[in-house]
Amino acid sequence: MDLQEFFNFCWEEYLKRVPTAKKVFDGLIKLEEAVANDHIALRTFCYPGMTKEDLASYFEKEGMEVRGHYTFEAKKLEAIHLEHKGDPRKPKVFISELKWQELSDESQQLLKPLFEQFESNSKGKTIDELVKEGRPWTLGYEDYLTLKKESEYAGWMAAYGFFPNHFTISLNDLVHFPEMKTFVTWLKEQGVELNSSGGIIKGSPEELLEQVSTLADEGLVSFNDGDYRIPTCYYEFAKRYHDDNGDLYQGFISANADKIFESTDSQGEKES
Ligand code: NI
Repeated sequence: MDLQEFFNFCWEEYLKRVPTAKKVFDGLIKLEEAVANDHIALRTFCYPGMTKEDLASYFEKEGMEVRGHYTFEAKKLEAIHLEHKGDPRKPKVFISELKWQELSDESQQLLKPLFEQFESNSKGKTIDELVKEGRPWTLGYEDYLTLKKESEYAGWMAAYGFFPNHFTISLNDLVHFPEMKTFVTWLKEQGVELNSSGGIIKGSPEELLEQVSTLADEGLVSFNDGDYRIPTCYYEFAKRYHDDNGDLYQGFISANADKIFESTDSQGEKES
């Protein structure tokens, strides 16, 4: 797959699991907005063959390069972001990774069988192939819950594998909503629930980036012992501001992203 095919494939898959994204997207199309993505986000484990650098290698071949590094101490995460070298209109790619070796022994033991399955099924595959083949391991629902108790991120990654975590609409490209505030009002009018951890709007014009995210939808996921409803993915919205040199800021703010990660936190799952 080339980069555009990859983005298109991810978007189609993502829409199937995130009805809220479809609702917001369709609402904007009705307003005749030209919806553009600021970035798409992927998650992974820091394990050989699937580190953030391993995943990034595909994007580097497709003309992108790493332009930012981030650390989230409390969540035991590190992240990078890539931008396209020749086409600033292409969405950025944000790849975070869990330093799973810093989790408890119990969680590490639960993750090991996943890594073993990855080794035998998927090692050497690039991210476009990984997304296409779907979660490369099986796991039990109880193990998912145990992982999630220690690290929401570990649970999400175990349940979904390399499924795209979120898409992000660029507010700068919307004509009806010059301000994030008016866009938030519109989202609420559409009945969209927003992540309020750290305030609905994360960041500020002074920080050159404002971000808002929906709360993750829920969907059925297959585990060894049956299908269960768990949080899927959220939709994000980003507005960027110009720096003192007149350049539109293209990085990410760790403090914002730290709160946005919590958009996939569970609001209580129900057994199907
Ligand atoms: Ni994001």
